[in-house]
Formats: sequence, structure tokens, C-alpha cells
Amino acid sequence: MALKVGVIGTGMIGQDHIRRLTKVLSGVEITAVNDIDVERAREAAPYNAEVFDTPQALIESDNVDAIVICSWGPAHEEQLLACIAAGKPVFCEKPMVTSEESAIKVIEAEVAFGKRLVQVGFMRRFDSDYRQLKRVIDSGVVGTPLIYKSVHRNASVPSHYISDMCLNDTLVHDADISRWLLSDEIVGVEVRYPRRSNVGGNDLKNPVIVLLHMAAGAIVDVEISVAIQYGYDIRGEVSGETGVASLPNRPATVVTDMNGIRQAMPEDWRERFIEAYDQEFREWIIAAEQGTATGPSAWDGYASTLTADAALRAADSGKFEKIAMIEKPALYGEQHAMAAE
Ligand SMILES: NC(=O)c1ccc[n+]([C@@H]2O[C@H](COP(=O)([O-])OP(=O)(O)OC[C@H]3O[C@@H](n4cnc5c(N)ncnc54)[C@H](O)[C@@H]3O)[C@@H](O)[C@H]2O)c1
Repeated sequence: MALKVGVIGTGMIGQDHIRRLTKVLSGVEITAVNDIDVERAREAAPYNAEVFDTPQALIESDNVDAIVICSWGPAHEEQLLACIAAGKPVFCEKPMVTSEESAIKVIEAEVAFGKRLVQVGFMRRFDSDYRQLKRVIDSGVVGTPLIYKSVHRNASVPSHYISDMCLNDTLVHDADISRWLLSDEIVGVEVRYPRRSNVGGNDLKNPVIVLLHMAAGAIVDVEISVAIQYGYDIRGEVSGETGVASLPNRPATVVTDMNGIRQAMPEDWRERFIEAYDQEFREWIIAAEQGTATGPSAWDGYASTLTADAALRAADSGKFEKIAMIEKPALYGEQHAMAAE
């Protein structure tokens, strides 16, 4: 029997996930949708799906086994807590929540429930290139990782994107993938602003360099550029004691013609990570059918929230800002392991 899924938030990524769950993946049926914009929910609702007036009613419906949350970040805490109270597996887009206090509430509720229910939408962990990079690092072939360079370049960002969002919206992907690749926690953050780009709006402090200090001593050097114009460019490179392993931007067909030799760039995250999103949901469906969750956890959501908060403080102070984590509950065990493929 198909897993009955309710989707909360039917905006840009909500619609993309509805397309994926109805047209790409199997073993799943969307039975319910909700959005504060009711008209948008109606337009996005697949045939036969019920449009609910409130997230709470959708979560509690007997016709919903598991939930996908694609609403705005500040709405996530209440919706996640309702899913945990109902004992239903939930996939929540990043950011899991927008404050440390909220993240701890979600962790405490899940721990009290006694079983993992929450998966956070850090799709890079499901990308085949990142998985290969992790295999190489874990094999020890480049020795102990000392430096990781993470490049995150967007062609452009919407007009509502403000400078802080480089740190509390975009950086969370680099923070999470760094923790996962290096099997380590972030203990402090520095932020530096180089010469400002005049492209993409005068108010935007762009680009930005963020240094993530890892517990074992490695440093992650993150470049975030959000108005690079030429495309979506995601790269990573780990320098170990005895070698270097790189993740270039995803290779595309090489075209040779009278204009020279060139490769197309992905336009945006939907194109670059399309297979990663599919795989993320394939694994989520398998776990949700068992009434649980695997993949990035509420602990990972908490860690990225702390990193975003510390980065905002570091941007203000110009100094190293320390991160202090609560003790990790046993429920989150060996959280850096790669999920079964
Ligand atoms: N993993 C990724 O790469 C990735 C990419 C894009 C967006 N996101 C995340 O996904 C989430 C949604 O982003 P988006 O780009 O689709 O935004 P969006 O604005 O296009 O859509 C969000 C939708 O949620 C609805 N909504 C807001 N609050 C709600 C509430 N309380 N209850 C019900 N519906 C509510 C809005 O009306 C809107 O339709 C954000 O948290 C964003 O950070 C993740």
C-alpha cells in the first residue's frame, strides 16, 4: 500500500517535491495539502488530494501517514512539534527551525517520543558526488582532513534576499555538509567580508567568507557568492595530510564549435541537485513506511541552527564566535554515518 503523504507549504520547493512524489517516485501518494495561501494549495493539489484549512488538521488526518513541511522557516517549529505529537514521520525543509531554543524543543519532543521521526532537507548528503567524496575521505586515502574548501555560488537571488540570509539561509548547507564529510562538529565561526560586489543590489553584503572551526582542528573555508551571474557553482575540496580530493562543479557535456570549447553550468539548485532530491525522498519513503526517519536528523538541524546564529554574531563582532552544544542524546547515535544506499 502506498505511503499517504500530506504536504504543508505549496510554494516553489513544495511544488517541486509534489512533482517528484507524484511523477518520479513510487510507493507514495499525496492525499493532503495545506498552505496559508489557500488558492495556491488548491492549484498545487494533485488529483484526489484534500486541501486542509490548517496544518494541524492535515497532520492529524487519518488519511495522512507522513508529512512533508515546505512552509517558511519560522513556521516549522509548531508544525514539527505537531507531527511528533501525532507520532508521524516528517520531512522538513531546511532550516529545521530558526532559533536554538526551537531546535532544543524539537529534539526534546523527539527524544521523549523515543524514536526518530524527523528528517531535515539537507539534500547534498544524497548527491552521488558528495557521497563519493565522503567515501574517499573515510577511506583515509588523503590522510586526516586538515582543510575543507566549500564554494557556494548562486547566479542571483530574489529581491527579498537580504545580507543576513547568506549566513542563516545559504550557509546551513555548507555547514551541514562539512560536519558530515569531516565526521565532526563545528565549535566556532569567523566571518569576513571582502570587497563588495556591485552586482545584484547595493544593499547586499556579498560575497562573504566564513571560517568554520571543527572540533578536531580542521578549518572549513566557505565562499558564499550570491550574484555571480554565470550559473550555480558548487564545489568542495578537502586537503588531507597526504592528498587532496575535489568535488568540481558537476560535469556537463562539452560543446566544441566556432565559439570555442565550453560546458553548460547548472542554472540553479533544482537542476544541480535534482537527483539528490529524488534520492533524499526515496530513502525518506523507505524509513517513513517503517514509521521512522533516517538521514539528516533533528540534531543536524540543531547544529546548523547554532552555526547560523554564531555566524550572525561573528559578522557583527568581527571576532571568533564560539559554539556550545548541549549533550547529544543517545537517539542521535553515530549521526555522521552514510545512510544505506
Ligand atoms: N533544500 C533546499 O535546497 C531548499 C531550496 C529552496 C527552499 N528551501 C526551503 O524550503 C522552504 C520553502 O521555500 P520556498 O522557496 O518553497 O518558499 P516559497 O515562499 O516559494 O513557499 C513557501 C510556502 O509556504 C507557505 N506557508 C508559509 N507559512 C505557512 C504556514 N504557517 N502554514 C502553511 N503554509 C505556509 C507560503 O504561503 C508559501 O506558499 C524554506 O524553508 C526554504 O529555506 C530549501
